[in-house]
Amino acid sequence: MKARVLVTRRFDLDGLRPLWDSCEVVYNDQDAPLSREDLIEGVSEADALLCTVTDRVDEEVLRAAGRLRVISTVSVGYDHVDVAAATRLRIPVTNTPDVLTETTADLTWALILAAARRIAEGDRRVREGLFQRWGFLEFLGTDVHGKVLGIVGMGRIGMAVARRASGFAMRVLYNRRSRLSAEQEVALKAEYADLEFLLSASDFITIHVPLNRETHHMISDRELRMMKPTAILINASRGAVVDEEALCRALETGRIAGAGLDVYEREPLVTPGLLKLPQVVLAPHVGSATVETRRRMTERAVHNCLETLEGRVPPDLLNPEVLSPDGPTR
Ligand code: DGY
Repeated sequence: MKARVLVTRRFDLDGLRPLWDSCEVVYNDQDAPLSREDLIEGVSEADALLCTVTDRVDEEVLRAAGRLRVISTVSVGYDHVDVAAATRLRIPVTNTPDVLTETTADLTWALILAAARRIAEGDRRVREGLFQRWGFLEFLGTDVHGKVLGIVGMGRIGMAVARRASGFAMRVLYNRRSRLSAEQEVALKAEYADLEFLLSASDFITIHVPLNRETHHMISDRELRMMKPTAILINASRGAVVDEEALCRALETGRIAGAGLDVYEREPLVTPGLLKLPQVVLAPHVGSATVETRRRMTERAVHNCLETLEGRVPPDLLNPEVLSPDGPTR
């Protein structure tokens, strides 16, 4: 009997194709997530789940999953999946690292440049028909080249952001739980700094940590107060890493100069105050949104799914404990 795979929303169709060759696919062909009820019902009859960041796969969903053999999320972030609960139920969970690293780093740089050079604000001005003459002292932004870039979370994406900084002759500071090797630091031209120093010395601070209990609101009032009044904060990781209300206050009072955001604490809702601030560039969670990368993410997730269903260890397994014979029992 063919394995039944629940695909929770529209992904790249060519990337999904191998699923149809070997499985029974229950496909939500809408570019919108399933309702909670449909997700729970679908999972209760599925052998595999292909999902993404808009699906909250929590304990309640997992309890309904009588025969689920793999959760493959089409995303690098997996804070929407209760991996601990899946592990207790011995369900492998996989994600799609690597394939979106460079694309997300590109978007991070788009936000840095757009916020520094007021691109979104200028675009609005032109569209409103208000560009009526050139102004020598109008739309003055701030230089990016030669400044200090602080990278919080030097994983794959942080490193890809750092590599791009040498083109802008920037000093790069970074912070992460474990320091990189001396060779890596030399190759990336990046200096390790504790978080306090990084926040106080950087002109641009960009966040690249996963969302978990330790990183929730890691940037709040205290951290914002440490930043320079000219600092620009960039976040293309997860919204809740930054306390959005605190950020809004810091921007309103001129405590920091600007922000470039791709992610939000209560996505798709945005703290209303942010919408009024011209010095904030807002993108609709598009870090990995290119044709090429969304194809690669879909292919990778499908590969993880099929490898698991066929009894092999998927390349991007997040909870290898499920494979151990001494692991938790279902
Ligand atoms: C991810 O992969 O985690 C992004 O946020 C969505 O592409």
